[in-house]
Amino acid sequence: MAGARLALPRKAGARMTDLASVDYFSDADITQDPYEYLDYLRNQNPVYREPHYGVVAVTGYQEAVEVFRDSGTFSAAISIGGPFPPLPFRPEGDDITEQIEAHRHHFPIFQHMVTMDPPDHTRTRALLAKLLTPKRLKENEEYMWRQADRQLDEFIANGKCELLGEYAKPYATLVIADLLGVPDADRDKFRARLAGHELPGSRVGALDQEPVGRNPLEWLEDTFSAYIADRQRTPREDILSVLAATTYPDGSRPSIIDLVRPATFLFAAGQETVTKLLSVAVKALAERPEYQQLLREDRSLVGQFIEESLRIESPTKVDFRLAKKATRLGGVDIPAGTVLMLCIGAANRDPRKFERPDEFRLDRRNAREHIAFGRGIHTCAGAPLARAEGQVTVNRMLDRFGDIAIDDSVHGPADRRSYRYEPTFLLRGLRDLHITFDSRVRPA
Ligand code: HEM
Repeated sequence: MAGARLALPRKAGARMTDLASVDYFSDADITQDPYEYLDYLRNQNPVYREPHYGVVAVTGYQEAVEVFRDSGTFSAAISIGGPFPPLPFRPEGDDITEQIEAHRHHFPIFQHMVTMDPPDHTRTRALLAKLLTPKRLKENEEYMWRQADRQLDEFIANGKCELLGEYAKPYATLVIADLLGVPDADRDKFRARLAGHELPGSRVGALDQEPVGRNPLEWLEDTFSAYIADRQRTPREDILSVLAATTYPDGSRPSIIDLVRPATFLFAAGQETVTKLLSVAVKALAERPEYQQLLREDRSLVGQFIEESLRIESPTKVDFRLAKKATRLGGVDIPAGTVLMLCIGAANRDPRKFERPDEFRLDRRNAREHIAFGRGIHTCAGAPLARAEGQVTVNRMLDRFGDIAIDDSVHGPADRRSYRYEPTFLLRGLRDLHITFDSRVRPA
């Protein structure tokens, strides 16, 4: 079967594609509808080398989990860019650990924890753990409720909105600003600077023709460096002062930039991804009035609704690892230096794990076992936040809006909907989502 060229019919009205010849990294059509291609890859083999870049696509659930969990064999150095840019060295032998370490500074965003391996990763993640305490997360969730209302107030009288621009992007940005204790007076500046822009990690590589490796988080780094320097001089009763005084587990003091980076990276990691989660969830709600009914009757189902949203349209569509050592995965030889593409969006639709995987089902018993947040040492540090943002948003919309519906005037009638997705191989999410609603519902 491997290497066979298959021509599969697409859904009615869609193009016929020779799936074997698709270049996943540059095919714009695949970004609009990746699942048939990802199924095709899994049908070849859950671990399958694609022909264009020699990247090994891992589309099986079990196999993807195995790679995520084995940080001894698989390095995260290329987690964001995958084959872009190509490796800065020619892999030699069955163990390239030393080569990776010697070239660390050539890898895109090597300064951020998501590309680090132990022991550096362990030290950096420990700094973040000091920030994300249960107390801080609770305070942040209280802010989420207040902020959701403030933002809904901005457009509720219109009876319609474009969800991403008017709600999801600014919401995701401001929630992180709050988590980090950005002073109130500066929050509008954060919204203006960040909520309309993609941050690094959301757009890289072939499709976007955008070089990786620059440091577009510069504005954030400058702003947070100034906060930290100020709080080190004059501590206050705020979370930035806690961050400014944070030490490594061995008691040593990080430099200002080492304190700033775990904080600023949260914007890159948590803004686009959460925006995408909110848009999937609201789209499902608006397309299926029966879900609105069910969730209104039993709010305890909202958690499950968010898990199924994360599973069916995983915002981080793919993630990457570099084989440090020669190994085998799913019966396939993996030489050291192999780039593996962990297809989270495909693993979460693996029929060996999820029954009738292409259906959105509120009664799916194992929905929470999805790997939308990854697994292992790099498991998403913001998963509790993202889940809470999804639940707060859905609950507040149900409280305040009746009859949430897709805006036919933009997306077409129910039998001929059209949606535009971001043209990126890395993430999965709508470019815009127009909804209408009845705003006469009284706040609960
Ligand atoms: C639905 C929303 C989100 C999704 C789908 C998501 C997905 C992921 C995934 C798949 C990883 C693992 C990357 C890897 O193993 O290479 C990750 C890591 C990470 N995420 Fe998220 N994320 C989301 C929201 C957030 C938020 C809101 C924050 C913080 C405010 C955040 C912070 C991080 C950080 C810091 C890491 C790196 C962890 C590490 O390297 O140890 N994420 N995320």
